[in-house]
Amino acid sequence: MFYPEELVEEIRQKNDIVDVISSYVKLQRKGGSYMGLCPFHNEKSPSFSVSAAKQMYHCFGCGVGGNVFTFLMEYENYSFVEALKHLAGRVGVTLPEAEISEEAKRQAGVKARLLEINKEAAKYYYFQLKSERGQAAMNYLTNRQLTEETIKKFGLGYSNQTGNDIYQYLKHLGYEDDILRESGLISFDEKHKVYDKFWNRVMYPIMDVNSRVIGFGGRVMGDGLPKYLNSPETKLFDKSRNLYGLNFARTSRKQNFLICEGYMDVIALHQAGFTNAVASLGTAFTGLQANLIKRYTGEVLLTYDSDEAGTKAALRAIPILKEAGLTVKVINMKPYKDPDEFIKALGAEEFQKRIDGARNSFLFEVEVMERDYDMNDPEQKTRFFNEIAKKMLQFTEEIERNIYIEAVSKKYDIGFDNLRKLVNSYGARLGTGENYKPKEYTERKGKNLPGKDLPAEGMRQSQRILLTWLIEDLRLFDKIKGIIAPADFTEDLYKQTAELLFEQFEKEGRVTPAKILNHFESKEEQKEAASLFSLELSSEMSTKEKEKALNETVQRIKKNSLEMQSKEAIAKNDIQTMQVIIKEQTDLQKLHISLTDG
Ligand code: CTP
Ligand code: MN
Repeated sequence: MFYPEELVEEIRQKNDIVDVISSYVKLQRKGGSYMGLCPFHNEKSPSFSVSAAKQMYHCFGCGVGGNVFTFLMEYENYSFVEALKHLAGRVGVTLPEAEISEEAKRQAGVKARLLEINKEAAKYYYFQLKSERGQAAMNYLTNRQLTEETIKKFGLGYSNQTGNDIYQYLKHLGYEDDILRESGLISFDEKHKVYDKFWNRVMYPIMDVNSRVIGFGGRVMGDGLPKYLNSPETKLFDKSRNLYGLNFARTSRKQNFLICEGYMDVIALHQAGFTNAVASLGTAFTGLQANLIKRYTGEVLLTYDSDEAGTKAALRAIPILKEAGLTVKVINMKPYKDPDEFIKALGAEEFQKRIDGARNSFLFEVEVMERDYDMNDPEQKTRFFNEIAKKMLQFTEEIERNIYIEAVSKKYDIGFDNLRKLVNSYGARLGTGENYKPKEYTERKGKNLPGKDLPAEGMRQSQRILLTWLIEDLRLFDKIKGIIAPADFTEDLYKQTAELLFEQFEKEGRVTPAKILNHFESKEEQKEAASLFSLELSSEMSTKEKEKALNETVQRIKKNSLEMQSKEAIAKNDIQTMQVIIKEQTDLQKLHISLTDG
């Protein structure tokens, strides 16, 4: 971090989180906190809560959370420094310039200028499209049945035929060669000759999630090659972590996202009312993109081209999307090639029917597999079923596996029991019988997934509860003093949080959870720490019940910590430490914390 902690904290305190978030989300007062529709995922009833007392937000639906900095980082896609600057400006605090390293300042400046350049270029291309010179491009788009409104919404444009038109324009606006070189819009050759990268093309500005132009795709009008040119990767433009159309889709409030292949598909779908469509940027779908989508929805429908390339791309994307925890279905567009053509031919209503009838991605994968086998040949047919049986092992839950066995056996008419036997025999052959769990599943992280280590999760839960409790009831600090120390927390994040809490309480006699979040740099950590502070302990418990719960929680945490320490001592053959631990273990059994005295 480039700024002193006190300054960061001052800025945080001056920006009331309820005020800041209210300018993005409609909030309603509910008891001690404010509730609204979560801007980070799709929901119909509010589970996004903002606490004025804690100066934090948390969504009970999708798990996001943090302080006022985290909110802007998530919502505006700001870096920490950008969020800090924005909030400093909002309350009239001047940030000391010298605090930023020269390099960081330069980089931030470059990014800001590249954003300006892209914006100016987009405006220029749009203006050209509307001018006489853009007539052919305009005709092209009109022939493709795009309306004036759609062209405007997506900011489509036209790059002129002359060789360095946009270069001249940007120079005229005062941008130097050095920065233009980094924009990706201009090519410079060795002899200092300068060309526009895009000329005589229809221009598709590519926007980030906050509708800032970060690059372009340019299409030839007709059959020339290459059909599309795209901006190269720049300091702004990272193809693996952006999606075309996401700036609109994120607020579409539909149940799912449609993922298609092309810019034109996204545009046609939006125009037809499917404002939840996105596409990758001319590259294969990535895990980063899947995680990005997971912030907004839990289900995706693939509407890739129905040709061989599209099918292959879909087969590659399916496991990536599943890995991110998304439910994946596949839309059948036959006999049309892509959503754009489909909608042109049959209209939005028919497309909606295809959405409603989308197949589960597993059945799609099976169907594609079938093409490799001659189903009239008994031997090949047998091999096909064997392949399916193997594939079925990815379903670790028996119920889920049975559902798929049923669906497939019905479709191919081979009888549920036959297929189930085959599947189980594969499980057995892999040495694990009916309860076979593939490695990739047991290693997965995330909530509610099979294979999660339950005792460890229970321990984490106890530690979370204690941290939450400490914040809600400061008396606890003294009560657990000498029993629980930060070192007793097993997870790094919890340990760090505990250290900071104990320190704050020691120094100031109070705790400031939102300040603690300043200490975590990554959004992931901030989110997790924030969720700690947002758990609500049940207020309906009687004092007696609370006391019991507290004692159990403290005992569990301490017991676990002592067990780990003793394992370590045994490994080192450290008899003295062992004796201390045994004494502590005996003391622990007698421990009773009272909530009524003192
Ligand atoms: N693409 C690309 N470079 C190419 C061809 C394609 O970057 N030479 C990317 C573009 O992002 C394009 C997507 O792959 O949108 C899908 O390609 P295609 O299906 O050929 O394009 P469409 O978007 O369907 O375009 P159109 O309907 O205008 O042919
Ligand atoms: Mn197309």
